[in-house]
Amino acid sequence: MKNLITLMLSCVLPLALAACDSGPAPSPPRQAAENVDAARTSQEASAVAMPAQDKGEAVKALIVYYSWSGNIRLMAEEIQRQTGADIFELLPVVPYSDDYDTAVNTATQERRANARPAFSGGVDNFADYGVVYIGYPNWWADMPMILYTFFDSYDLSGKIIAPFCTSGGSGFSDTIAAIKGLEPGATVLDGLHLEDSSGLENPGKAVTDWLNGLDIGK
Ligand SMILES: Cc1cc2nc3c(=O)[nH]c(=O)nc-3n(C[C@H](O)[C@H](O)[C@H](O)COP(=O)(O)O)c2cc1C
Repeated sequence: MKNLITLMLSCVLPLALAACDSGPAPSPPRQAAENVDAARTSQEASAVAMPAQDKGEAVKALIVYYSWSGNIRLMAEEIQRQTGADIFELLPVVPYSDDYDTAVNTATQERRANARPAFSGGVDNFADYGVVYIGYPNWWADMPMILYTFFDSYDLSGKIIAPFCTSGGSGFSDTIAAIKGLEPGATVLDGLHLEDSSGLENPGKAVTDWLNGLDIGK
């Protein structure tokens, strides 16, 4: 009897030990595995969406503007003075006339044709910029068509857009909504609008107040 038990143990024990050693690693519970994936996906997503300054990196800022008679240029240069941002002026390859009626005529034709007037040069290393200040005069409750050329030319997804505008009294009209429609992947902040008749008297203070309210670093 004793020999029989010894014989049985010597057959069964190695088989039991082998089953423990070579079995596949247990799978994590399905719910736990899904949570790991979900957490990784959400980390990746927030890493893309997170502005650079949240990660402690300096955010590079760029000012892009078009100005026909100088008002927006005044604002753009003030923003540059206060932020130290790089600046790029949209200069039409075919300049508008200095004569108001002729310029209005050209702009009217461009608008009717939904034209994309070309601008000279381009922005180096556009991808490096996290914040883009974009300035334009209000033309018939819209942006000049050259701004549409700019938005067609560059991908602003993931960037912060801070619009600024001057007008004879129409404010931004629907231009902020237009920018949001053109750049759905960007964050469009509250813009700064100044009126020709009064707003341009002290653009320095208006720009300071605006920048302080934006809280995007300077
Ligand atoms: C072609 C054209 C269309 C304009 N349309 C409007 C308008 O619809 N509403 C408005 O308030 N001002 C309008 N303006 C006035 C300009 O928006 C305003 O003078 C602006 O400050 C000019 O900026 P700039 O000097 O940078 O070109 C228009 C001016 C031009 C030349």
